[in-house]
Amino acid sequence: MPLEKTILIIGLGNMGKALVKGMLKSGISPNSINAVDISLQAKATAEEFGITLYNKAPDEITPKIIIVAIKPQLLNKILSEYKKFVNPDCVFISIVAGATIAKFEDILTANANIIRTMPNTPASIGCGMTALFANKNINNKQKQQAENLLKTVGETAWLQDESLMDTVTAISGSGPAYFFLIMQELTNAGIKNGLPKDLAQKLVVNTAWGAGNLAKQSNNLSPQQLKEMVTSPNGTTEAGLNVFAKNKIDKIIENVVASAKNKSIELS
Ligand SMILES: NC(=O)c1ccc[n+]([C@@H]2O[C@H](COP(=O)([O-])OP(=O)(O)OC[C@H]3O[C@@H](n4cnc5c(N)ncnc54)[C@H](OP(=O)(O)O)[C@@H]3O)[C@@H](O)[C@H]2O)c1
Repeated sequence: MPLEKTILIIGLGNMGKALVKGMLKSGISPNSINAVDISLQAKATAEEFGITLYNKAPDEITPKIIIVAIKPQLLNKILSEYKKFVNPDCVFISIVAGATIAKFEDILTANANIIRTMPNTPASIGCGMTALFANKNINNKQKQQAENLLKTVGETAWLQDESLMDTVTAISGSGPAYFFLIMQELTNAGIKNGLPKDLAQKLVVNTAWGAGNLAKQSNNLSPQQLKEMVTSPNGTTEAGLNVFAKNKIDKIIENVVASAKNKSIELS
């Protein structure tokens, strides 16, 4: 990613801040990064990172990359202020959940270069997973640039079909909360079985961290294979897993994803 590109982030909240952090860590100069936000928190963030903050769409810069990181309900009201930046050299990268390419083209015109993405909260520590989908105006160089930018906060994957974004939202967008729920309940079960809370939480968090890392580093092994590797016949793990199976964990998770996906469709 050439460092001289002027980047503008609209919305310097949780995700905007995570992206700035990642970009700075990857070597992008704070001088290249500008943000628009109206909150006091954003002022503190901009000062902390040494980036320029505006309270409305600026006239004095010509951004080449505009990252849209405001809440979905503000999009209709705010995005049209940025129509002035639409040109063949400027790419809009949206992280706004549920906001379709059609909606962006509607507000910015069909000539706008738009990449719709769906990151997740582990992006805040550089361990995010972001899916991307480009509109027809985006060329390979712009695709690579967007990918490099999102890679500063974790892994990326391109989608060939925008409608898959709803499934992505239900899997990796909402997914961290599913794992946190399992961690919460495993911690509670540990406490109920006599462990002090701090110890139960430490065991659970580190087990989740270890399992996640093991799965990530074991490229050629599926989660199913990894599960089988820790499950000896008639052992303790099998006894526990049998309860998941008896209570149809597969159906529960299928329903969880269907429900989140439907909500994503409804919201967009
Ligand atoms: N958090 C996630 O896990 C996640 C994952 C994927 C995608 N996303 C998407 O990321 C986007 C941002 O989410 P977030 O969690 O970072 O939200 P957030 O923390 O609320 O950040 C949004 C920021 O935009 C500011 N803002 C309000 N009006 C503005 C204006 N006119 N111009 C510029 N900025 C303005 C807000 O200020 P105030 O606080 O004063 O309103 C806030 O600082 C959302 O569209 C969400 O769907 C989030």
